[in-house]
Amino acid sequence: MTGVVPPNEVLTVDRLRLDYPLPRASLFAAPRAVRAVSDVSFAISRGRTLGLVGESGCGKTSIAKMVMAIEKPTQGNIRILGRDIHRMSPRELLGFRRHFQMVFQDPYGSLNPRHTVGRIVGEPARNSDAETRARVAAALEAVGLKAGDTAKYPHQFSGGQRQRIAIARALVTRPDLVVADEPVSALDLSVQAQVLNLLRDLRETLGLTYLFISHDLAVVEYLCEDIVVMFAGRIVERGSARAVLTAPAHPYTAALRDAMPRIDRAGTRRSRVRPAADKADAAIAMSPGCPYAPRCKRAIARCTAEMPELRPVAPDREAACHVA
Ligand SMILES: Nc1ncnc2c1ncn2[C@@H]1O[C@H](COP(=O)(O)OP(=O)(O)OP(=O)(O)O)[C@@H](O)[C@H]1O
Ligand SMILES: [Mg+2]
Repeated sequence: MTGVVPPNEVLTVDRLRLDYPLPRASLFAAPRAVRAVSDVSFAISRGRTLGLVGESGCGKTSIAKMVMAIEKPTQGNIRILGRDIHRMSPRELLGFRRHFQMVFQDPYGSLNPRHTVGRIVGEPARNSDAETRARVAAALEAVGLKAGDTAKYPHQFSGGQRQRIAIARALVTRPDLVVADEPVSALDLSVQAQVLNLLRDLRETLGLTYLFISHDLAVVEYLCEDIVVMFAGRIVERGSARAVLTAPAHPYTAALRDAMPRIDRAGTRRSRVRPAADKADAAIAMSPGCPYAPRCKRAIARCTAEMPELRPVAPDREAACHVA
């Protein structure tokens, strides 16, 4: 993947690793780090939505931060439209940022309460000329808000409307890629559906490409064509969302699916049984083998001794599991 990027690939993530440095225990102690992401590779073609899923702390936001050039990878590279964003000069990156934008989880915290909606939405465009004002009005209209809303402040809107404002802000530069990190998980269920429908419509009308992060498989099943399942900083399974969620190959994906409330055919959510309580994560960090082995019902001796590599297990499907 280090060679030429296919022309329709909007995002290419190649063997990413991210270590967060930890404070030293003492002056003479060795430097310590948390490995948040290990050897993660994936690509998203134009117009497609890739769902990145996994439990809290598995490294989803860390990947989003590297894709948004907020955090520098310890290893690996990220290309957007074929360009390595971590090798650009700060000036080049500033200009290139119009191609990729982000929508955050918290529609309350991510909008400056002292700024008007017009200023918030126009902010990524970085100037306030007539062209920007027209783009702000168009972005607000695209998300179902009125051009007249520009003079109002975030507190005058509901949670769902605020998330529409955040989406409008992401659209104002007419980006190719939108990274959405848990964009609906802070919203009520009924409002979640509206915002998901909006994201889906915008994908069609504007030809957007999404990296969609969620711990909610029902939401991913609804919006994403492709899925990457992570555990402890690594990809454990990937493939088409439908196929992976219908017949998971990795025992972790199966446990995740069984634990999640799903949207059934009538459109209502049913709760499923929770998986067994987590074993201590320290065990995960120290094992040379599969990070999931301490929790896995199907683990064999090899699983605790040897790290499984991601390998094809079915057409268009890969899993990192010795028993899959
Ligand atoms: N700034 C930081 N410094 C040190 N460790 C961090 C930092 N940010 C995240 N981590 C650690 O990196 C790991 C991955 O965190 P990350 O935020 O990427 O997880 P996540 O999958 O987004 O979780 P969640 O679903 O809770 O948002 C966690 O173990 C976390 O504690
Ligand atoms: Mg996160």
